[in-house]
Amino acid sequence: LNNGLALTPQMGWNSWNFFGCNINETVIKETADALISTGLADLGYNFLNIDDCWSAVRRNWKGQLEPDPKTFPSGIKALADYVHEKGLKLGIYSDAGVFTCQVRPGSLFHEDDDAKLFASWGVDYLKYDNCYNLGIKPKERYPPMRDALNSTGRTIFYSLCEWGVDDPALWAGKVGNSWRTTDDINDTWVSMTTIADMNDKWASYAGPGGWNDPDMLEVGNGGMTYAEYRSHFSIWALMKAPLLIGCDVRNMTAETLEILSNKEVIAVNQDPLGVQGRKVLAEGNGGCGQVWSGPLSKGRMVITLWNRCSETVTISVTLDILGLDTATTYSARDSWKHETLEENVTISFGAPVDVHDCKMYIFSPITSVSVS
Ligand code: DGJ
Repeated sequence: LNNGLALTPQMGWNSWNFFGCNINETVIKETADALISTGLADLGYNFLNIDDCWSAVRRNWKGQLEPDPKTFPSGIKALADYVHEKGLKLGIYSDAGVFTCQVRPGSLFHEDDDAKLFASWGVDYLKYDNCYNLGIKPKERYPPMRDALNSTGRTIFYSLCEWGVDDPALWAGKVGNSWRTTDDINDTWVSMTTIADMNDKWASYAGPGGWNDPDMLEVGNGGMTYAEYRSHFSIWALMKAPLLIGCDVRNMTAETLEILSNKEVIAVNQDPLGVQGRKVLAEGNGGCGQVWSGPLSKGRMVITLWNRCSETVTISVTLDILGLDTATTYSARDSWKHETLEENVTISFGAPVDVHDCKMYIFSPITSVSVS
């Protein structure tokens, strides 16, 4: 969507994956504090997004949405002020149907009023869900909220959440800043890998202004190993997915924080070229030895060797398959070890990778300096 936003994929935090409906204003404020104190905000995680269940079960007598009086007694405006003061942005959630998935009032047929209300509260981001949609096509329900947000005069990031049902990659580029391509993720290896593959299909439709959204991060929620979370984070970064943290950032392990704070991987996600990387090779048993890659700015390329097999394997790829110039030599920087390999790369490249782990490299062409 051409609203000046999402030149790179959005980064931040969302309440759903860890808290579900169990949210309140204290959790949101403490999360804002934690994003700052952990250094995550400084790394770019600046959207603090409240998901479903912030609202009261009914509209008020004026027909307006209202925050749940028990859990958000101070109101959303107060929360927006609180997070803005810390240099963060506030996201909220509604639904392109008559109810949200947790049966709070939806915004269908109330787009203008609700958008105005969100803007008056100082909201910076709207995630717009797809429950209770009366069977009306997404293509008819999502643009009205885009127009409503636009006419508020406030710049509001618009995140479509129609779960990939109507192939949003094909039409949502003009409607939203990102669009979910799949059903909900859960905190398992099977879910994460399945979703990565589904999202890969739409790679060519992503770019500055609008991104494919394979759903929020599960890193730190405990259902996968750290190797699996490293893969999850690396592949989401490479796919130019929104990096929305989904764990309790007030209580993270050092390993979780280290994964989410990897500047070199974040830089891949936020690279200004904005091209979604893809799976370029799947070899071995059931195609479990995989290579995912994509172009970066300054003629560089990100290459991720991803071991989806049940044993350690060596994964190799040729420059040819990567679409690189076979006559050029490349330096290779390991984005997890934070070191540049001693040996430069020509013709082909490979490395052993632990079970379900990945290795991510940035290849940079080496320009030979001619000495006269
Ligand atoms: C379905 C969405 O896909 C989830 O991300 C979350 O927003 C829930 N609804 C909330 O009810």
